[in-house]
Amino acid sequence: MKLDRTDGIIIALDGPAGSGKSSTARAVAERLGYRHLDSGAFYRALTWAALRANIPPERWPELTPDELDRLDVHGAPEGRAYRLTVGGWDVSEAIRTPEVNAHVSRMAAVPAVREWLMDALREAGARGGLVADGRDIGTVVFPEAELKAYLVCEPEERARRRLREQGAGVSEDEVRAEAARLQGRDQIDSGRAVAPLAEAADAVRIDTTRLDFEAQVEAVVKLARERAGG
Ligand code: CDP
Repeated sequence: MKLDRTDGIIIALDGPAGSGKSSTARAVAERLGYRHLDSGAFYRALTWAALRANIPPERWPELTPDELDRLDVHGAPEGRAYRLTVGGWDVSEAIRTPEVNAHVSRMAAVPAVREWLMDALREAGARGGLVADGRDIGTVVFPEAELKAYLVCEPEERARRRLREQGAGVSEDEVRAEAARLQGRDQIDSGRAVAPLAEAADAVRIDTTRLDFEAQVEAVVKLARERAGG
C-alpha cells in the first residue's frame, strides 16, 4: 500500500507516564508545522465519561461498541491538536484530574476499547504530517511511522515534573508518592495483554532525565528532519 505522506512524515513518541511525551510532541509539531495527536487524552476522555455515567470500573471489560458509542466521546481536529468532547462538552481539563489518573490504565487495558478507538487514531495520520504520542503508537497504531522515539526518564524526575505541572508541592514525600503512582500505572500498561507499553525494535531511545525541555524537543526535530529528507 502506498502511504499518503502529503502533509509530511509520521512521528511516533512512546514512553511511560510522565516521560514528557505529550509536551515534547506538541512542541515538535509546532516546530515542524505538523498536527499533534495525544492518544492518551482519548483514553482519559473515555474514562471520564464512564465515571460520569456511573459505570463501575469492574464493568469496563464488558463494554460493548454500542455502549462506547453512547458515551459520546469525540476528538475533533482544531488548529494543530484534537479537541476532546464528551456529550458536546470540552473535557480538556476535566480529564487531567487525579481521579482520571487513577482509573485510566484500567480503561486502556480493555481490548474492545482499544479496538473501538483504533480507526479514529489512525484516521489522524491518513495524510501524514503528524506527531502522535502514547504507549503503542510505534508498535500498533502506526507501525509504519518514519520516526519512532521512545522517551524514558527516572521515576523521581518524572514525578517532580508531574507535580510541578499540576502546581502541587514537590516535597520529597510527595515526590515519592507520585513516583509510586506513576510506576503503578506503568506496571499495568506494560503488563496488559493487548498493545502493552513497549519499545519498538526500530525506535530511537531518548533518556530525558538530564535533558532540558528544549534539548529534548531539538533531538526529535533533528531526527525528524533527517527522516523527512531535508
Ligand atoms: O500523560 P501521561 O503519560 O501520564 O498519560 P497519558 O499519555 O495521558 O495516558 C494515560 C493512560 O492512557 C496511560 O497510562 C495508558 O494506560 C493509556 N494509554 C494507552 O494505553 N495507550 C496509548 N497509546 C496512550 C495512553
